[in-house]
Amino acid sequence: MRILVLFDVHRRIAKGETFSVRSLRTEEEKPTEADVLACLRKLGHEVETLAVFDDVKAVLEERDAFKPDVVFNLCETFFSDRAHEPNIPALLELMKVPYTGAGPDALMLCKDKALAKKLLSFHRVRVARFVVSARERPLRHLKRFSYPAFVKPIGEEASDGIALASLAKNEEEVLERARFLHERFESDALVEEYVDGRELYLGVLGNKRLTVFPPREIFFGQAPSGAAEPQSADDAPKFATAKAKWDEGYRKKWKIRNGPAGPLPQGMERRLAELARRVYRILNIRGLGRIDVRLTASGDVVVIEANPNPSLAKDDDFAQAAAQVGIGYEALIQKILENALRWKTEGPG
Ligand SMILES: Nc1ncnc2c1ncn2[C@@H]1O[C@H](COP(=O)(O)OP(=O)(O)O)[C@@H](O)[C@H]1O
Ligand SMILES: [Mg+2]
Repeated sequence: MRILVLFDVHRRIAKGETFSVRSLRTEEEKPTEADVLACLRKLGHEVETLAVFDDVKAVLEERDAFKPDVVFNLCETFFSDRAHEPNIPALLELMKVPYTGAGPDALMLCKDKALAKKLLSFHRVRVARFVVSARERPLRHLKRFSYPAFVKPIGEEASDGIALASLAKNEEEVLERARFLHERFESDALVEEYVDGRELYLGVLGNKRLTVFPPREIFFGQAPSGAAEPQSADDAPKFATAKAKWDEGYRKKWKIRNGPAGPLPQGMERRLAELARRVYRILNIRGLGRIDVRLTASGDVVVIEANPNPSLAKDDDFAQAAAQVGIGYEALIQKILENALRWKTEGPG
């Protein structure tokens, strides 16, 4: 098959500039793109890459020049702006080129975390209670709220804007963090109830018939807590800050790791799989997705976030979860391609 790997960069690129597995991994620091490109080549496909920044025409030209059978869509921004992520599949839709992963609808819904949670609540899926602090009209009071609260940007990913200061123990801290996020991300902020518990990641693969992989878990080890005191008690609130997710040195130092979920209460894995399927369907996700939840000490499962097009590097949770059930990376990438092609007949046309 002829496959175009489409991904985003944060600078203008020269016409005809191509990327190798090596340059993607080292210079561009794009492990997902590097792994996917290497894998597609290994699978014997004819592959080209196109980096997207601010030039829509380049995508159209590449379609005409290369005539891909399918686009492997790894774009998360346009003009370096995440809000444009849904517009890439929208464009591909108009071009009538099949593409991997989510359509514009799911991306639009999930990128507005408040909107996604409203939809889930309507369907009685448990989510963290929340209020929105609008950038144009920041919250000025938050009298009746159960603390600690958790304050996060409404439309970011990869724990951008999530730090130990995201945990707020009173009104003053909430308002301060929200103001900071308004300025830093020029966007609204979510103030959520802090959900204490284990954090589990549920990988889902498919369009209509869905496979849910076994849960993965982040183990926080000795990670510093968001609460000022006590710093290291086991029951202190811990969560996935940007550092805890991506900074290898930090992860090592504090013994933070991701792996297959530890022992779960009886029947829980099945419950989680059913929940993941429901959330995936409610939010119109297709291709692949990862539903992130927290499991409280009393056995409640609270959905934190749904991720259409989750990170897909070989060592990320999604691919690792697939590997746990014997679906190796090549088979996984091939299935993602098949879902993209199948959507042509299953989808809206
Ligand atoms: N309401 C919450 N209660 C507890 N922890 C939370 C809550 N919301 C987010 N977190 C923590 O912050 C991390 C990042 O939040 P998330 O909404 O998933 O943003 P991102 O899209 O950046 O991954 C989560 O993985 C979790 O550890
Ligand atoms: Mg997340």
